[in-house]
Amino acid sequence: VFAELETPAVLVDVDVLDRNLTGMAERARAAGVRLRPHAKTHKTAQVAGRQRAAGATGLSVAKTGEAEAFADAGFDDLFVAYPVVGADKGRRLLALHDRIRLAVGADSVEGAETLARVFAGAGRTLDVVLKIDVGLHRVGVLPEHAAAVARQIADQPGLRLTGIFTHAGHAYGGQTPDAVAAVARDEGRTMATVAEALRAAGLPIATVSVGSTPTARDSMVVPGVTECRPGNYVFHDRTQVALGTCRLEDCALTVLATVVSVPADSRAVVDAGSKVLSSDPLRPRPDGHGLVLGTRTTVARLSEEHGVLEVAPGDRFRVGERVLILPNHACVVTNLQDRIWTVSGGQVLEPWSLIARGRVQ
Ligand SMILES: Cc1ncc(COP(=O)(O)O)c(C=O)c1O
Repeated sequence: VFAELETPAVLVDVDVLDRNLTGMAERARAAGVRLRPHAKTHKTAQVAGRQRAAGATGLSVAKTGEAEAFADAGFDDLFVAYPVVGADKGRRLLALHDRIRLAVGADSVEGAETLARVFAGAGRTLDVVLKIDVGLHRVGVLPEHAAAVARQIADQPGLRLTGIFTHAGHAYGGQTPDAVAAVARDEGRTMATVAEALRAAGLPIATVSVGSTPTARDSMVVPGVTECRPGNYVFHDRTQVALGTCRLEDCALTVLATVVSVPADSRAVVDAGSKVLSSDPLRPRPDGHGLVLGTRTTVARLSEEHGVLEVAPGDRFRVGERVLILPNHACVVTNLQDRIWTVSGGQVLEPWSLIARGRVQ
């Protein structure tokens, strides 16, 4: 398959991609919420352009450097969905603020102050969105502390508090689709309740932003939610299939690899290791590092350049054969490549450059 490509190579089926893109855009339209997809999944101007064409109001990114890359590519409404801290970042955000509509996340008074000083010093105002912890327990302010922190952030010269946002990443631990849906409903309801409490305290909360791929469907329809920020949905991956978020045929991104060794009947080795597939575990339950499509064989172990297949009964591999692997987590795969190859109907189309890859600062 795809004999013209050298392996390992990352492929994206554009027909599946477009179906995923338009499906989510229609869902957001029907729910009456704005769609601000997280661009860290694809890191490409081409997918971002398709998201915009399908109705996205802007993009979310995780890093200041990702925002710079997308601003350079002509995207003029960006939200850095991360608690950005530090005067160095503040100065880069100030430069971005000159040319695009920009908002950033915050979850502490101290962190927000580091940006406020830069913006107030320049006589400018940065839009800030407060991160709420609805159960992931990573970053974010607990709902009961939101009003106090929001007030202190809103009072800082150089900042304008415009809303609240969350990411219910704990949905990835949901053992059943019902458990995932329950997390999603709770995500939406908690955010709507926090927004009402902040408004009652006199804070003008316009944006109530939820978002992850597993929870998007059920959280965006909760009354009071105004925006959704799913990222992974453009490609999906083995984890989304395991969670019940999508079907196998909804996965757009695969890794094309060559079998380089078959040392035993039960073991074959491909040229895609952790440098390509990443070491991310399958969620919600660990099970190797990828599935060989069309077989029951999984990538059981990884080293940097080796993906060790545990050959399932009935499957057979030969040296030189090419296989398509569905990775556990598509978003990290795109951070490990310079480009992805688009394909359609078994034909290779063109490479897309991953303009925001490796932008870790
Ligand atoms: C803050 C934030 N928003 C949105 C997303 C998108 O979530 P998903 O990739 O599940 O669609 C992520 C992903 O990690 C995130 O961290």
